[in-house]
Amino acid sequence: MAGWGVALPPTTVANADLESLFDTSDAWIVERSGIKSRRAAAGPFVDHVVAAHPPDGVGTTAALAIEAGNRAIKAAGVAPEEIAMVLLCTTSPDQAMPATASAVAHGLGIRGGAMDVNAACAGFAYGLVTAAALVGAGAGKVLLIGAETMSRIVNWSDRTTAFLFGDGAAALVLEAVDGPGSLLGWDLGGDGSLVELLYADHGSGMVMKGQEVFRQAVRASVESSVTALRRAGIEPAEVALFVPHQANARIMKTVAERLGIGPERIASVIDWTGNTSSASIPLALFHEADQGRLADGDVVLMTGFGAGMAWGSAVWRWTT
Ligand code: ACO
Repeated sequence: MAGWGVALPPTTVANADLESLFDTSDAWIVERSGIKSRRAAAGPFVDHVVAAHPPDGVGTTAALAIEAGNRAIKAAGVAPEEIAMVLLCTTSPDQAMPATASAVAHGLGIRGGAMDVNAACAGFAYGLVTAAALVGAGAGKVLLIGAETMSRIVNWSDRTTAFLFGDGAAALVLEAVDGPGSLLGWDLGGDGSLVELLYADHGSGMVMKGQEVFRQAVRASVESSVTALRRAGIEPAEVALFVPHQANARIMKTVAERLGIGPERIASVIDWTGNTSSASIPLALFHEADQGRLADGDVVLMTGFGAGMAWGSAVWRWTT
């Protein structure tokens, strides 16, 4: 990971703000999810109108992705023309067609390939494995971005889902290194028979069976992590940092416990970001990195799950 950058919309929505929309309380939300606030690019607390055509408008997924992507490219010290491929992990694309990645590449001055990766909240794990495979195959430098405007697909009058989600983006430049590479082991999987547990149709808000998603999330995250660790030949005790999808602090803690990973090794930003879907793992990872909590050679375990259901894990040797 040659360089990275993040972007968050300016509007903070605190739990107490949601009390004006539906019957809820800060105490309930914190206890059930660990979330205190989230950032929103759209919705009832944002006064601008989201532009229909990216990448010009504020509040689009493309705009957040471009902001994070620009920071990552600068941090990596590479020129846009060196980027061979843009992979945009998102489940909140700006348009039905084309891929939002096209607008992002254009906004960044990149003429390489560009495509979206939609595996809902497992998106970043899917994108990272795909990006590593491309780099390993000799593609050159890949810009991998997780970016979401969940505020545009959430049903703001549904108290059982609206409090969970937030917006944000995080990006990184992946480039080849000498030797075996950083992806030590991975697992991608899914079960499409569970699609009714969590979905959003075109033009209507998100529908979620929360308790069942919770159960499936714990099961899938543990099994997928164990598989990826086994393939990597890494024991849980060797994991320096566990970066789970930031869906719910209770899910994150339960999964870590079952893997035998102590709470001090969990990367967590959920209290101030909420669930930012494809952006959540890189936001948490780079928050830790920016705090100096990662050293070259550290083993990082990332695991995500989400609508589909889709799940994915990556065991990564931190190399900058
Ligand atoms: N404020 C106050 N009360 C509420 C709220 C709210 N915002 N929402 C629900 N309640 C009530 C319910 O109506 C219920 O009341 P009842 O007992 O009178 O029926 C009570 O609180 C308990 O509700 P539960 O659904 O049982 O609460 P639970 O402990 O399961 O927590 C939660 C709900 C936080 C949604 C949990 O189920 C969860 O986190 N599920 C996983 C969600 C998730 O991770 N989704 C993202 C997946 S990733 C992706 O792809 C997008």
